[in-house]
Amino acid sequence: MRVTIAGVEFRTPVIGASGTFGYGVEFEDLISFDRIGGFVTKGLSREPMKGNPTPRIIETAAGMMNAIGLQNMGVRAFIAEKLPKLQKLNTVVIANVFGFTVEDCIEVIHALNDAPGVAMYELNASCPNTSHGGMVFGTHPNMLFDLVKQCKAVSQRPLIVKLSPNVTDVGLMGQVVEDAGGDAVSLVNTFVSLAIDIETRKPRIANVTAGLSGPAIKPIAVRMVRDVWRTAKLPIFGLGGILRGEDAVEFMMAGAAAVQVGTASFADPRAVENIATGLKRWCASHDVAQVGSLTGSMI
Ligand SMILES: Cc1cc2nc3c(=O)[nH]c(=O)nc-3n(C[C@H](O)[C@H](O)[C@H](O)COP(=O)(O)O)c2cc1C
Repeated sequence: MRVTIAGVEFRTPVIGASGTFGYGVEFEDLISFDRIGGFVTKGLSREPMKGNPTPRIIETAAGMMNAIGLQNMGVRAFIAEKLPKLQKLNTVVIANVFGFTVEDCIEVIHALNDAPGVAMYELNASCPNTSHGGMVFGTHPNMLFDLVKQCKAVSQRPLIVKLSPNVTDVGLMGQVVEDAGGDAVSLVNTFVSLAIDIETRKPRIANVTAGLSGPAIKPIAVRMVRDVWRTAKLPIFGLGGILRGEDAVEFMMAGAAAVQVGTASFADPRAVENIATGLKRWCASHDVAQVGSLTGSMI
């Protein structure tokens, strides 16, 4: 079940997704870390952030909408308070990084470079760039190129770039990341969405718009993984609505080298472990000797 991505070895290609796995330590008594590939931390910013007002999460027919607003403890508190505990868990820790300017992102990466126990960085490109009128980094090729190039220049660890799905040509964005020197991509982040309470005629989420995730987005996410697999020669972390081992197989056949599990952990905190077990069983029952052989194997 082992896979190696950008020089980092994972026990299994199934890992916990950012924002749905806390800082990892919350899951210590819930799952066996030796049965999952690792996890991605909640997004970390230069300074702590309180996030958006509530309500900021609702359930939908086949998933959920969230507008948490990137609430987090800040990179320095993460390093001081969480990282020492994480090192005892013997798992691959990927730090999710974001900022509202390129300089913000660079500062977070600088802080993490000096901290032990982080294997990779995942740069969240779905953030608004306040230096460019709030345009989302990952929706503009030139802005994405600049962000990745500058972050890669200071990064002492492999850099995954997490793509926004709110674009017409995600394959182009994968190519941009490759040209800018990124080591891997992950996709997808959430889809911009809106829900209205028809009795009050008000938005159901205080922020008005929110990110849609869960099973509803899976077929779009699988298609987007395929698009990037065709345009960029980078390893892909595929995600979006994965609930079962079979969903992970599907993402890998589309081109993913590994997968991340997000919303499923809200329904069942053991989802990442169960999906890893499901993937292993599927491989055993289909005579797949090496899970990596599934990647891009759609005929
Ligand atoms: C409550 C919540 C918080 C999230 N926070 C982050 C975050 O801080 N950074 C990030 O890159 N993605 C974040 N995401 C996006 C997920 O990591 C994932 O890309 C998305 O939910 C799609 O996968 P899923 O359908 O398996 O949930 C968040 C998602 C949810 C539901």
